Amino acid sequence: MDLISFRDLSKEDVEDYFARAEEMDRQLEAGNVEKLDGIVATMFFEPSTRTKLSFQSAAERLGLQIVDFVGSSSSLKKGESFEDTIRTVDGYADIIVIRHPLEGSARVASEFAEAPIANGGDGGNQHPSQTLLDLYTLKKMKGDIGALNVHLVGDLKHARTMRSLLYGLGMFGAKVKLVAPSGLEMARDAIADVKRKFEMEVEETETIDFKDADVVYVCRIQEERFEDKYEAMSVKKKFTIKPEYLQGVKEDMIILHPLPKIDEIPPEVDKSKYAKYFEQAKNGIPMRMGIMKKMLGSARQKKG
Ligand code: NCD
Repeated sequence: MDLISFRDLSKEDVEDYFARAEEMDRQLEAGNVEKLDGIVATMFFEPSTRTKLSFQSAAERLGLQIVDFVGSSSSLKKGESFEDTIRTVDGYADIIVIRHPLEGSARVASEFAEAPIANGGDGGNQHPSQTLLDLYTLKKMKGDIGALNVHLVGDLKHARTMRSLLYGLGMFGAKVKLVAPSGLEMARDAIADVKRKFEMEVEETETIDFKDADVVYVCRIQEERFEDKYEAMSVKKKFTIKPEYLQGVKEDMIILHPLPKIDEIPPEVDKSKYAKYFEQAKNGIPMRMGIMKKMLGSARQKKG
């Protein structure tokens, strides 16, 4: 039971993840988390704070052990292949959480490993556990996801969080407005896919106007994925959520962000009642506990 792409999930699967995260929230609240047995390997070939630490923290809360792969001090440095590295770690762990700059890398890893693979981000492609926690956050804060008008704002071309989330929002019937600086629009095939699959309403614009938004979901300019770094710098300078954009918005509008935020959110916006991204980041714990518990259950079934 891998978690590689949001596109592999049905609505029932996602609702099952919600129920699991809710159960984990209940157990955490009661201070009575049911302990599990197993080892989780975290393999991060790209920088990470939230995804790596929340998977590790979630594992600890479940009573699981962690082995951490550090690329720079591993045998990759001696020239060992990705395949051999995955096959080896597979022998040491019951779950593998992997983040890698190449699109499709988590899928490839799943072909070499018996242990379930959780994709912690593969290049600009997918980030399914982030989308599960984003949707869980929306459900907790807003109730009916299908009734929401969501603006996705930022570097929609390179951000895997946005590509996964567009799919998740489509699945629940939300209305989406894509707001990207010119040249950083969402991939055409991703838009065509959600329109076809979910008959989703998707509007595209370069102009920021949050008045009809229930949710504004922002992401940073993904500088490391630009071929031309100078271009990234110049878009970064132009792209910020100015405090005046919040004038006249719905009282209960919320701003989410997968984080890290760099310069796109100024301190005034950060301090406003709309900013909910640190609460969002905390939901990574119950959701990732739910994901790993499900993975261990299915791995045991497979062995048995
Ligand atoms: C994101 C990622 O790595 O894709 N961060 C995260 O996992 N919370 C967003 C980003 O790097 O911009």
